[in-house]
Amino acid sequence: MARTKRIGILTSGGDSPGLNAVIRGVGKTILGFYGLEIIGFRDGFRGLVEDRRLKLDKSTLSGILTVGGTILGTSRDKPHRMLIDGRTRDMTAVIKENYKKWGLDCLVCLGGGGTQKNALRLQQAGLNVVTLPKTIDNDVAMTDATVGFATALDIATETIDRLHSTAHSHHRIIVAEIMGHRAGWLTLGAGIAGGADVILIPEIPYDVAKIADAIRRRSRHGTNFSIVAVAEGAMSHEDARAFALAEGKIERAKSQEQKRDAKREIAALDARHQGNTLRLAKQLEELTHLESRVTILGYVQRGGTPSPADRLLATRLGSACGDLIHENVFGVMVAARGDGTEPVPLEKVAGKRKVVPPNHPWIETARHVGTCLGD
Ligand code: F6P
Repeated sequence: MARTKRIGILTSGGDSPGLNAVIRGVGKTILGFYGLEIIGFRDGFRGLVEDRRLKLDKSTLSGILTVGGTILGTSRDKPHRMLIDGRTRDMTAVIKENYKKWGLDCLVCLGGGGTQKNALRLQQAGLNVVTLPKTIDNDVAMTDATVGFATALDIATETIDRLHSTAHSHHRIIVAEIMGHRAGWLTLGAGIAGGADVILIPEIPYDVAKIADAIRRRSRHGTNFSIVAVAEGAMSHEDARAFALAEGKIERAKSQEQKRDAKREIAALDARHQGNTLRLAKQLEELTHLESRVTILGYVQRGGTPSPADRLLATRLGSACGDLIHENVFGVMVAARGDGTEPVPLEKVAGKRKVVPPNHPWIETARHVGTCLGD
């Protein structure tokens, strides 16, 4: 009698709406449909190292479809560089020991780009791993969608809708900063859906003078308010050049010291970029003589109950994950592909970021309806 397969599952990286819906989809398929066993590990890869678990059964999976966040907890810890007792250590061997100790046949990792890289490392270290794409940024390569993006799009769009009334009433420029890390999907999508007058994304470095011209043109035609949707990673041409130079130094680094110096330079640029949205609003106020105000949406975009679209996506991916494990297909990400799913080798996903291509249809759509993209 073959031993019942046992699956481990963890959530890693930034939380997103729909994570619990994925856990439920995987859990119900594994437990209910295939009669296998499943163990939850807490707080991402750290829980696997520290052997902290959550029993997943019919009762713990019940009622979580609509619950935000993750019942397992999450972290940004990396298996090969984990801070333990004040020291950064490679904990891969400990993870392998606990994987074996619990008799796991597969580890399911829910996460974004960073998680895909960490999962590939564990697959290469000998574990059986299957991942699912989760992030509000929608920037995981080789999948049509990521769990969390649809809900964050709804939240950001509703925010832009609400900002219209105050901008119109006060004849103001309202600058709304939207998440997305170094990709512009969330800002571009919500900007179009919310009818923003200006949409600024990391993929298109902007010229503040051109944005001011667009806002002034609106005023001359009698519309003296504007909504500027700016991605947290969007930047001016000057800043984009500085980042590109620093990133080039990393690629050309001939020693670990050169690589560390270049990474320190990027960290300094990142730190300075933190105040970018406020500086942009002030520049636009000075150039257009319209009052400007800033709203930073922040973590509201990752909170609360997942939208029906995300619940459907999460359940589809979770169910497909159970099928792949049943068929002993490992070392893959369960990618969303149209109405279905497709297993994609982790080597094709890890280390790649899906950004908005310059010729993407959404870019053309925004331009056709008269949106200024800062260029
Ligand atoms: O990756 C999701 C995300 O929300 C990004 O959009 C954002 O830049 C980042 O996480 C914030 O990271 P943290 O949750 O660690 O502050």
